Amino acid sequence: MIAIAVIEVKHPLIEHKLGLLRNPGLNTKEFREITSEIASLLTYEATRDLPLKEKTINGWAEETKVKEIKGKKLVAVPILRAGIGMLDGLLKMIPSAKVNFIGLYRDHETLEAVEYYSKLSNDIQERMAVIVDPMLATANSMIKTIEILKNNGCKKIRAICLVAAPEGIKKIQEKHPDVDVYTASIDQCLNDVGYILPGLGDAGDRLFGTK
Ligand code: PRP
Ligand code: URA
Repeated sequence: MIAIAVIEVKHPLIEHKLGLLRNPGLNTKEFREITSEIASLLTYEATRDLPLKEKTINGWAEETKVKEIKGKKLVAVPILRAGIGMLDGLLKMIPSAKVNFIGLYRDHETLEAVEYYSKLSNDIQERMAVIVDPMLATANSMIKTIEILKNNGCKKIRAICLVAAPEGIKKIQEKHPDVDVYTASIDQCLNDVGYILPGLGDAGDRLFGTK
């Protein structure tokens, strides 16, 4: 298997919309709407290789061969809370996806991810999981989520995020090279308190208006 690990999706629509998001003057509604739009575009890219199967239907004039996605519906796994901001964008593309939740917060001193909630499908081992979180900074949250999914038997995992820091990418590549992460941007670095530069600031606060 070829390990891809982190894919920076270069597309004019994504780059334009991410440029809009970098403006700290956006209000909550604007930030949420653009986040959702980028999430749809990243979902499109992250599902490019889903397997298809052929079936025959009665078309308007004659029998016609069509294609449908093979296998069980995929599971979207938003990391609470900021992942919720990307969920509807994914669901616009894949309305029948299952949704599982993992609740984590970053300890501000250690930057470790602390788990406070999880609710997974009991057949997660038969489904592909797409982790949804706008920010990949130290990657501690993403790695904790991958570990929870793998410990529950999930074998096929990928992730979408708005912005990723090189420090976090390196960790994912070392620990979980089988997990492909699709990001709208690989940014420059983390600052001394673990925020991505140039980044977006605190994505959860900007999505939910808590600051
Ligand atoms: C943010 C973000 C990621 C995490 C990324 O969540 O949504 O989950 O930080 O940082 P990391 O890569 O260093 O782990 P936060 O803990 O601020 O919680 P929130 O979503 O509730 O705002
Ligand atoms: N979480 C955020 O919301 N923003 C960052 O830059 C890093 C972690």
